[in-house]
Amino acid sequence: MNLDLFSDSNGNDAAHDEADASAQIAHLKHVLHRHAHAYYTLDAPEIPDAEYDKLFRALQAYETKFPHLKSPDSPTQRVGGAVLPEFQSVRHQVPMLSIRTETDTESSGALAFDSRVRKELAYDAQAPAIDYVAELKFDGLAMSLRYEQGILVQAATRGDGEYGEDVTQNIRTIGQIPLKLPQNVPGILEVRGEVYMRRDDFEALNDRQRKKIAGGAKGEKTFVNPRNAAAGAVRQLDSNIAAQRPLSFFAYGLGEVQNWPQNLKPFQTHYELLQSLKLWGFPVAEQTRCVQGSEGLIQFHAKVALERDALPYDIDGVVYKVNDLSLQQKLGFVTREPRWAVAHKFPAQEALTVVLDIDVQVGRTGKLTPVAKLAPVFVGGVTVTNATLHNEDEARRKDVRVGDTVIVRRAGDVIPEVVSVVVEKRLANSLLFTMPQVCPVCGSPALRDEGEADYRCSGGLYCRAQQKQAFLHFAQRRAVEVDGLGEKLIDQLVDAGIVNTLPDLYKLGLTALVQLDRMAEKSALNILAALEASKATTLPRFIYGLGIRHVGEATAKEFARHFGTLDAFMSATEESLLAVPDVGPVVAKSVIAFFAQAHHQEIVAQLRACGVHWEEGSPAEKPVQILSGKTVVLTGSLPTLSREQAKEMLEAVGAKVAGSVSQKTSYVVAGAEAGSKLDKALALGIAVLDEAGLLQLVKGSLHDSA
Ligand code: IVH
Repeated sequence: MNLDLFSDSNGNDAAHDEADASAQIAHLKHVLHRHAHAYYTLDAPEIPDAEYDKLFRALQAYETKFPHLKSPDSPTQRVGGAVLPEFQSVRHQVPMLSIRTETDTESSGALAFDSRVRKELAYDAQAPAIDYVAELKFDGLAMSLRYEQGILVQAATRGDGEYGEDVTQNIRTIGQIPLKLPQNVPGILEVRGEVYMRRDDFEALNDRQRKKIAGGAKGEKTFVNPRNAAAGAVRQLDSNIAAQRPLSFFAYGLGEVQNWPQNLKPFQTHYELLQSLKLWGFPVAEQTRCVQGSEGLIQFHAKVALERDALPYDIDGVVYKVNDLSLQQKLGFVTREPRWAVAHKFPAQEALTVVLDIDVQVGRTGKLTPVAKLAPVFVGGVTVTNATLHNEDEARRKDVRVGDTVIVRRAGDVIPEVVSVVVEKRLANSLLFTMPQVCPVCGSPALRDEGEADYRCSGGLYCRAQQKQAFLHFAQRRAVEVDGLGEKLIDQLVDAGIVNTLPDLYKLGLTALVQLDRMAEKSALNILAALEASKATTLPRFIYGLGIRHVGEATAKEFARHFGTLDAFMSATEESLLAVPDVGPVVAKSVIAFFAQAHHQEIVAQLRACGVHWEEGSPAEKPVQILSGKTVVLTGSLPTLSREQAKEMLEAVGAKVAGSVSQKTSYVVAGAEAGSKLDKALALGIAVLDEAGLLQLVKGSLHDSA
């Protein structure tokens, strides 16, 4: 297609121009509709975004030049524009009803509905099971879309069911809603469904709002949940703003229908109706099922309850509808609710409550977690009294304070969390939450490493909260293995103050053990035997069992192999640790920091004194002199290694470290602010390495021909 029709801007034949433009516009509209459907509804774009934009701009250009050729079904009408003083009221030709709600457990809610339907239809026990369509109950707002001759002419909210508001401008901006339907649809067709916001779109929108607020924008706010955000967007008088709020749509029924096309068979079932809606280009939830009888309903409810949290949008239940449209008609309505449909809700996942306090808990790895203590509230099927605030950044971002009224969410088995604060209800004298500078359990400094989200207690094995973790780690099968020493027993031993450090385990006697809850003499004897057996261990298990941060099982094995003895490992320098395969600066620093604490040295000594032993070996092999005969020059400052450390590492593997660059230099290791030595190396074509390259070089893993 030629998009370059404007190059002859002095166009002399206006009539011809216009006829041509009209054809181009029709063509572009058709192509863009198809791609929009593929993109928004099928989630399967056929052309790149840039290509779509190009076609879109071409259409815009035609419409600007020939404004009277612009029509309401044009994809360009999706972008917002008008700012309305108020919404026009719309009378629904077919009222928008609500549905009766069951909140009972999965079986009783479904059973009650099925038996009501059977009774109304005078079905006896012998009569067959009734066919139902089971759908999701979307948590958005109901919308009626009116198409005349296949063109979207009006979108209206439910309002009071009889009168709604005309929100056509805003609804046009929803990519999933067709502006034009295929041929062969009823002359007048009202499609009913739910406008909603996906959770990821909601999060992104709130992120943008927070940035605007942080940037000083007045009158902006964040939204409490996707439903509120969707409702706000739909009822936005400025359609330019509505266009920036990402909305989605699911169709689930019809309103007024007239002028049925001759060659279209009338629907006999609700399911056929949904399938046609899908064919006409409307999104219909793929979870929709045809099921039989109350059994089918119960199964559907249970299945969706499990899948609920994994859906990309919120639902608050499921909806059951009698499938056969003639049966629907027989059943009719009670007041404003159909007898043929029911909503079966799930327990609410969000609730309002008050923050009584903010505690900081020490996790088993020393991680400090701020936790909101809440006035008890029933949410997601359980009573919740605690909600995690995750870490300092999260607590700050949400700005949760003691005394605040908050929205708490508990979805599935997920730990309850504070979604947001109802700022309007904040007390005047509330204080900003700050993380404590010391561990609330042991008083050691709380430290937050650069680039990490969490504060950690630096008390290590002296911190009671971390002791438990240390015991569990030490006793696990892959470490020193103390059979039967599990979480419950450790909790008791530590809480009662019977054991404080690892060596205390080996000082346990029968008397102390049998005093514990549910500890018969036989089990106590078993524990003592397991402790005795654990004393014969291996060096890798012992190193791993110490629980040095960043030292996993594989690294412990490497250390044991490399150093041969525990003493050699404990007295290793950072550079000799770095010479061990797969050991980088983070691990090396962690080992150094661990043994720098005198009480860790003491614990090791005591464990040995208690009889914990292993076979020691000689260092695996003398480090191979892989760089013997090579000369290396160091210049500039390296990010983590000192000049001295780098030199030692190089010399340990046989390299000679020289002060100046010459033809004989094998490598130049350059850091920040390297000067003339680097220039010279480059001039002579000598291999230049950074710190990472140096580490690879001394480990023999740098593949270079120098
Ligand atoms: S059918 C005559 N189906 O729930 C039946 N409604 O209280 C009309 N809703 O206002 C509604 N998901 O906003 C139907 N799959 C679904 C639905 C659904 C959500 C909402 C809708 C309606 C309310 C009914």
